[in-house]
Amino acid sequence: MYLLRRIKTLITESSQRRDYKTAVISSNNNELSTTFDPQKPPPEISEREKEILTECWKIVQQDVAKVGIITFVGLFETHPEVHEAFMSFRAENTSELEYNAILRAHALRVMGTVDKCIYRLDNREKLRDLMTELGIRHKNYSVKIEFIDLMGPQFISSIKPHLVAMWTDEHEKAWENLFKLMSYYIRKGMCSI
Ligand code: HEM
Repeated sequence: MYLLRRIKTLITESSQRRDYKTAVISSNNNELSTTFDPQKPPPEISEREKEILTECWKIVQQDVAKVGIITFVGLFETHPEVHEAFMSFRAENTSELEYNAILRAHALRVMGTVDKCIYRLDNREKLRDLMTELGIRHKNYSVKIEFIDLMGPQFISSIKPHLVAMWTDEHEKAWENLFKLMSYYIRKGMCSI
């Protein structure tokens, strides 16, 4: 009898988990909302956009630490709830100085992730695996899914001043698409657990 009940529970649990993985995730967090359908295909990046991204990245890399910090300061100013999420991750006895070092390190890690993705635009499986695993880890850090989409627009605002002489709508679109692609797989990873 116990065994039968256990089997029934396992079957129900696994089908519930499967439903969750394939469901359209709609999440509302005050004025932020996100709808993510893991069944939809990932966004595409054209050959011209790849060229633009690689060309821009060579320039941005010279000031990578600054761009990373400006992205995060901008993100925290426009969305204080992201700052709060970071604060809650901070251990109780972390000093202000240590906390700032954690934020700086995270800003650099985000830049490192952009670097990895740009150099893997022609290796889509690798890019997918890297971002999906990063999404799983962010879910474990208790990061809300709707925060992921906020990074792209802030990042674009931070790089524009460095590329003002060459910036066109095409550049804007190329960077938007890169972040859409990264977010797609990060969120897919977040929804998979
Ligand atoms: C495109 C967006 C993001 C990227 C590429 C990114 C990247 C990273 C990377 C590479 C790490 C290092 C540890 C690991 O690989 O697991 C990390 C850690 C972490 N991230 Fe993110 N992240 C993003 C967005 C966010 C957001 C929006 C939050 C909001 C609270 C966040 C919170 C954290 C926390 C708490 C950690 C662990 C502590 C740390 O190692 O700094 N991340 N992230």
